[in-house]
Amino acid sequence: MQNNKRPETMQRITTTELAKTFIDEQVHEIRAKVQDKKVLLALSGGVDSSVVAALLIKAIGKQLVCVHVNHGLMRKGESEQVIDVFGKNLDANLIYIDATDRFLDLLAGVSDPEKKRKIIGAEFIKVFAEEAAKLEGIAFLAQGTIYPDILESNGVKAHHNVGGLPKEMNFELVEPIKLLFKDEVRVVGETLGLPHNMVYRQPFPGPGLGVRCLGAITRDRLNALREADAILREEFDRNGLADKVWQYFIAVPDIKSTGVKDNKRYEGWPAIIRAVNTKDAMTASIEEIPYPLLHHITNRITCEVPGINRVLLDLTPKPVGTIEWE
Ligand code: XMP
Repeated sequence: MQNNKRPETMQRITTTELAKTFIDEQVHEIRAKVQDKKVLLALSGGVDSSVVAALLIKAIGKQLVCVHVNHGLMRKGESEQVIDVFGKNLDANLIYIDATDRFLDLLAGVSDPEKKRKIIGAEFIKVFAEEAAKLEGIAFLAQGTIYPDILESNGVKAHHNVGGLPKEMNFELVEPIKLLFKDEVRVVGETLGLPHNMVYRQPFPGPGLGVRCLGAITRDRLNALREADAILREEFDRNGLADKVWQYFIAVPDIKSTGVKDNKRYEGWPAIIRAVNTKDAMTASIEEIPYPLLHHITNRITCEVPGINRVLLDLTPKPVGTIEWE
């Protein structure tokens, strides 16, 4: 059994120098453990799995096999960034699976949020296990477990984590960042050369846009959500809000209202902006967004995104509104 307790003497990794020392130690340990065997990693493109991937690539290169499953519920550009950063720049052994149709077909007509989460979680495991079964000589499974996951394993995150991997996968675990806090993972990630926007990315739920395309998901409304969300992110980046706001996104409900465009009736869905600040996601407050920027975002979304004819702002703190709508 590996040690799951952070030693009290362990220094907080706040600088590149400290990160380098950590990386050197881990590279050494990983090599000693893995030797000439192969390691499998589910690479979502989130902060934790990306940092684990970069660390393992440094330690064992192509002995790491990364599998990126695109469930079709990713934000705009995310799978492309995984392919660019890991497949091209870091020359990783990366298997990319576009499973969009599998997920969206299973989700068709399902409106209950918990059922949607279960379907997405179970299908993810199925796709990943199918890929793993095709590979030969895998002895280890790498995971992006971080220290808060260990501390909170009975809490919110455990309930939320749909990405848990099948128990019958009989691999030994490699969890090189399991004693690190999130801020330390980010310093290590930047020191390993990962892009800033990947390492400082806001939290994104495992079921992705699936729980923001409210009710039964349809491809047209999911696409509208993805485009509107990309505009919101772009404008927050440009206007200095990306570093100030903890989580910001669009949700699109399954409601149509009347509008008018080019002198014609234009039925469309509303895009709901949610932008919150929090320390631990248990409570959250509303970030003030300047009105001129809200007008600009509204204008861009309604002009550029087919199917959206209104933009609304969610002003509800948590409690009483959860951060996600579903
Ligand atoms: P709520 O909506 O409960 O969200 O206020 C608190 C935080 O958890 C994230 N969240 C999830 N993360 N799988 C995840 O990995 C999920 O199913 C899930 N649901 C919510 C949410 O984005 C917020 O950061």
